[in-house]
Amino acid sequence: MKYFIGNWKMFGVPKSISILHKINYYYSKDKNRRKYRVIITPPYTLIESYAKYFKKKKIIIGSQNCYQKDQFSSNTAAISPYMIKKVGANYTLVGHSDNRSEGDTNEMLKNKVHFALKNNLKVVFCIGENKKEKKNKKTFSVLKKQLSKVLEKKFNKNNIIVAYEPIWSIGTGKIPSKNELEKTAIYIKKVLKDIFKKSPALLYGGSVDGNNVEMFKKIREIDGFLIGGASKSSKKFIDIIKNYYR
Ligand code: PGA
Repeated sequence: MKYFIGNWKMFGVPKSISILHKINYYYSKDKNRRKYRVIITPPYTLIESYAKYFKKKKIIIGSQNCYQKDQFSSNTAAISPYMIKKVGANYTLVGHSDNRSEGDTNEMLKNKVHFALKNNLKVVFCIGENKKEKKNKKTFSVLKKQLSKVLEKKFNKNNIIVAYEPIWSIGTGKIPSKNELEKTAIYIKKVLKDIFKKSPALLYGGSVDGNNVEMFKKIREIDGFLIGGASKSSKKFIDIIKNYYR
């Protein structure tokens, strides 16, 4: 199974659903549709209405984050995995670099993964090195730490997807070379095999578009994409899927 996940970040109002109507139309007619899933993570404010609309359709709605507690608590403005699931989301991102840079620690991320899984949300766990770590050749050790400090053997790997998003590539138009990404993807899958015996799906994220997807699709270890900027345009998002299966 392949995955095309659109991460809207801080974008969208109710009428932005028109973007998803177009993506859903393409998806439901695509002859390759059984080979992949389309998941969109709008902001919290839109999860319920979008999930209701797409309930019996192809697109799956997810959340961009969740709080590190289970159900209800006295944390102002926090949204728990339970609350997200109850309004119809089926996935959640955990550990996006935007949230790590705002203070998400490994311990918090472990709780997020735990409670998300407990509430039947599938988790897309994001990892990635920054520019300085890459320059100092620390990429592998950073990734290993991000994975091993959070993911545990007891988690159900069938409900986890890992997204490798080098921070220097997010929103910059810069992407790793094929060779570089292939080596990193093989390494990540090896670390995941050490934890789970069998590796969960691995996505790449960072400036993915309709042109560079041609290169990414040649890498066997990459099972799909986490798409930021290009997911806010139906045409750009559909172009990624089209060119992937071309
Ligand atoms: P980008 O974002 O595609 O705009 O680089 C990816 C992400 O942050 O998930």
